[in-house]
Amino acid sequence: MRGAARAAAALSTLRRAYPGPPRGPPAMDGASPNGSGPPPGAGGPPGAGETLITEGRATILFPSANEVFYNPVQGFNRDLTCAVMTEFARLQLQPKGIRVTLPGEEKMDTDSPQPPENGDGDTAPAPDGPEAPRMAKPGEVCEGGLRVLEALAASGLRSIRFAKEVPGLRAVVANDFSARAVELMTRNVAFNGVGDLVTPRMADARMLMYQCKADREPFDVIDLDPYGSPAPFLDAAVQAVSEGGLLCVTCTDMGVMAGNSAETCYSKYGAVSLKGKFCHEMALRIILHSLDSRANCYQRFVVPLLSVSADFYVRVFVRVFTGQAKVKASASKQALVYHCVGCGTHHLQRLGKVTSHGTGFKYGAATGPPVGPTCEFCQQRHQLGGPMWAEPLHDPAFVERVLAALESSPGRFQTEERMRGMLSVITEELGDVPLYYTLDSLSSTIHCNTPSLLQFRSALLHAGYRVSLSHACKNAVKTDAPPAVLWDIMRCWAKIHPVKRERLAETSPASRILAVEPTLQASFTLRDDANPSSRKRGLKRFPGNPEAFWGPKAKAKAGRNGSDTRTNGRSGRTTARA
Ligand SMILES: C[S@@+](CC[C@H](N)C(=O)[O-])C[C@H]1O[C@@H](n2cnc3c(N)ncnc32)[C@H](O)[C@@H]1O
Repeated sequence: MRGAARAAAALSTLRRAYPGPPRGPPAMDGASPNGSGPPPGAGGPPGAGETLITEGRATILFPSANEVFYNPVQGFNRDLTCAVMTEFARLQLQPKGIRVTLPGEEKMDTDSPQPPENGDGDTAPAPDGPEAPRMAKPGEVCEGGLRVLEALAASGLRSIRFAKEVPGLRAVVANDFSARAVELMTRNVAFNGVGDLVTPRMADARMLMYQCKADREPFDVIDLDPYGSPAPFLDAAVQAVSEGGLLCVTCTDMGVMAGNSAETCYSKYGAVSLKGKFCHEMALRIILHSLDSRANCYQRFVVPLLSVSADFYVRVFVRVFTGQAKVKASASKQALVYHCVGCGTHHLQRLGKVTSHGTGFKYGAATGPPVGPTCEFCQQRHQLGGPMWAEPLHDPAFVERVLAALESSPGRFQTEERMRGMLSVITEELGDVPLYYTLDSLSSTIHCNTPSLLQFRSALLHAGYRVSLSHACKNAVKTDAPPAVLWDIMRCWAKIHPVKRERLAETSPASRILAVEPTLQASFTLRDDANPSSRKRGLKRFPGNPEAFWGPKAKAKAGRNGSDTRTNGRSGRTTARA
């Protein structure tokens, strides 16, 4: 049977098996916040060879032999998305007089934090009229609420979680082009009693998004969570999302994005990746660059809310706005990266320049380059990477709101502790300093032992510079100090902890860097403010691998008879984690 006919037959069988959407109790009422079972009376028990898996408020039927449909490691990705979507719903629906409420928040006063600014820098207006705001709760259809598309939905787990855990939703479309996936998600939607909110669709995600654009029925939220690269879906997604709407995009092709295949990265994202220590943050900046440049084709631009590098993937949450004048600034938001192959020093070159001109702005080409023909510290050559997004990765006010909601509604997510730790580090990151160095690479370049994080951070603070960690790398040093200052601090360190200079080749980066006397006298005396608050509070900031053999799942493979079968296993992709 052909795919479409097979799915239609499956849908009609399932509709007979599950007549009408069985309504469970309102989500989050009564039952335990995590790991609750399906609502009473919804769907039948699992059949032979099927497994029940509970994640968040959803309980999903999976074919046991086909565990590729479920990747538990992505539970963090789904938890984070529910948390972000909830705050986005609050932000979007407040002007419509709809109050988004989580269990535990009902009794909170209306003095909840004000929504962050929109893309124009304006604060969202207060609700019109004197009426009391309407309440929107998880699991309930919200008139005037958000329309959500999960374009690549597989089992429907994510969409079902949205329906049960995110307040303020009008409708969720769970789409996949695999007949087998649509069959499974239809069953799971009924099993979880969310048929009034979630509609399974079988279509090529691109066609569905282009059609929505043509029909002027944009989605307020589009979630792209593909196997590997989201690149084929970006053009349609930046057009099909509503004004100020939210795009949530996962990339699991980290080998490509982290410099193992720079030319493939260019063909997918329009940017050359580098294998520097900063590769995980650069991957975030590459997908943001790609999203912005595709949006620019349609006089649109992106504003990042949150950008996360976790496990074997990156995930970005951006809003999309329209504005011909704003799009003119896009070239100046992107930068090329000069990365020295000897000592790892990096410099950024913006692509465009904006100068203020009376009441407006003038746009033009930037001037450069920021480096000479060879590295000023070790005389080696530079690799050229990018262009990448060079503006902030996150909206700090928005991230604070996500964190505040974790506090006001504890126990909502299984990965809450990790979320709190990671988001806290993110709020501490220096937003205006793209990329970072790592302590061990600075030390290994000059063959000295490694200063402690607090010693090195203290030296930077004593010298009058700012410094932060990065959530993307455990021993990252993100600082506004120029590279000359970093190397001077390392030279001072090497004076206290001498390096065996006689063993170094004359032309090595170590010899060349250490041959120069420091102009700065670094102090390594510990400062209290060198210890980041997230570290002082003992938060779980950089958890280890979530489970044995973790990683992205393999793509579905066609069976011998051409049918749509799924395989177990891992993709074997390198994750290039530094
Ligand atoms: C990684 S899985 C999605 C996992 C899901 N988002 C979750 O969190 O459980 C990717 C899905 O995309 C589907 N897919 C791939 N290309 C597609 C396309 N062009 N249109 C629609 N679905 C597609 C695959 O069939 C697969 O089920």
